[in-house]
Amino acid sequence: MAEVPIPTCRWGIITTGLISSWFVADLVAPRSDAKARHVIQAIGSSSLDKSKGFAAKYLKDAASAHDPALYGSYAEVYSDPNVDCVYIGSPHGFHKRDCLAAIAAGKNILCEKAFTINAREAREVFDAAKQKGVYIAEAMWLRHRPMVTELRRLLYEDNVIGEVFRTASDFQMYLDMAGLPSTSRYKDIDLGAGSLLDIGIYALTWAILTLEPKAPAQREMPKIMAAQSFVDGIEVTTSVVLHYPSSGRQGIVSSTTERKNGASQIVATIDGTNGFVEVEGSAPSHPRSFTVYPKWTGDEKPQGKKYDFDRPQQGFIYEADNTALDLAAGRKESPVMPWSETIRVMEIMDEIRRQGGTKYSVDAA
Ligand SMILES: NC(=O)c1ccc[n+]([C@@H]2O[C@H](COP(=O)([O-])OP(=O)(O)OC[C@H]3O[C@@H](n4cnc5c(N)ncnc54)[C@H](OP(=O)(O)O)[C@@H]3O)[C@@H](O)[C@H]2O)c1
Repeated sequence: MAEVPIPTCRWGIITTGLISSWFVADLVAPRSDAKARHVIQAIGSSSLDKSKGFAAKYLKDAASAHDPALYGSYAEVYSDPNVDCVYIGSPHGFHKRDCLAAIAAGKNILCEKAFTINAREAREVFDAAKQKGVYIAEAMWLRHRPMVTELRRLLYEDNVIGEVFRTASDFQMYLDMAGLPSTSRYKDIDLGAGSLLDIGIYALTWAILTLEPKAPAQREMPKIMAAQSFVDGIEVTTSVVLHYPSSGRQGIVSSTTERKNGASQIVATIDGTNGFVEVEGSAPSHPRSFTVYPKWTGDEKPQGKKYDFDRPQQGFIYEADNTALDLAAGRKESPVMPWSETIRVMEIMDEIRRQGGTKYSVDAA
């Protein structure tokens, strides 16, 4: 049988930080069922030495054996004609700035979460992308995982737990705030510091994905009740109740940087009238499996059916493949994470912050 050609995406990586290293390591890892070919075409950093070090560390064993262009600035990546799509892995306080610069140069973009600091910034970025006619999507990798599609199918097509009425998800990540330098993105309010935008967004995403069966464009805005706590002016714990007026469903969403998570735990629980689902993983951003249980009525926890998902490396390949396929099809938005959905998530987080008291300087602008 003739081989079906797969699209190639030549990536320009912005920053040499943690998330860029995870993303690149996944993209260059060998695999047999590739839906797209990924080439690390260029790396842009605040310093050329960092770009060189990053390439030496994460690309030396790359199967693609392609030597990327190494730059000591982000602007050189934006103006590199061989880059098809820019991946932005800077702190969220810089996402608007970096997206607008890449858009001005006519580049397509996959930008890390939180997409921006607030909904107003997100709208500004999408307006610029629309005017320029480039592709842009928020890199909410959780939504691209096959396990999420399968879970939603089981919940809302097979109705495996009856009527879903509640989802709870908590993201814990310990940060030694006192020990971090004041320049850390976890401590610098202007870089978007706070647990909600950094990790709470994943707990919120579990609620959205499991409580909202409709396509993104038809989803309703939940009612929001939120509280936030602070250490030295930085939000360290957020708790939220979401309530969907049309269905009565509730989401209980929380995040904290004051408690360490375990290597394996329940990262989300979905309750229905006939049973419940537990999602297992090391964090809400790193789910591995889920188990569907029948209704629990006796003393013993009932026997469940486990759905385990083979996960290539960390799982960034799903969003990367979908971006490459979107670009090959000429789409300007991701059907998995359309612009309207990014704006809605930012609006929900704006409201949580309004109630909880986190204020970023750009909120006032
Ligand atoms: N999808 C996920 O699971 C996930 C996980 C972690 C983080 N993230 C997101 O990815 C983004 C980056 O997070 P990260 O953990 O990778 O951060 P990080 O390790 O601190 O790296 C951020 C990079 O941004 C650049 N940068 C430019 N100005 C900076 C400044 N003033 N302070 C700090 N860094 C600066 C630096 O790269 P150069 O010097 O090379 O320019 C730095 O290495 C955030 O928006 C975060 O929410 C997503």
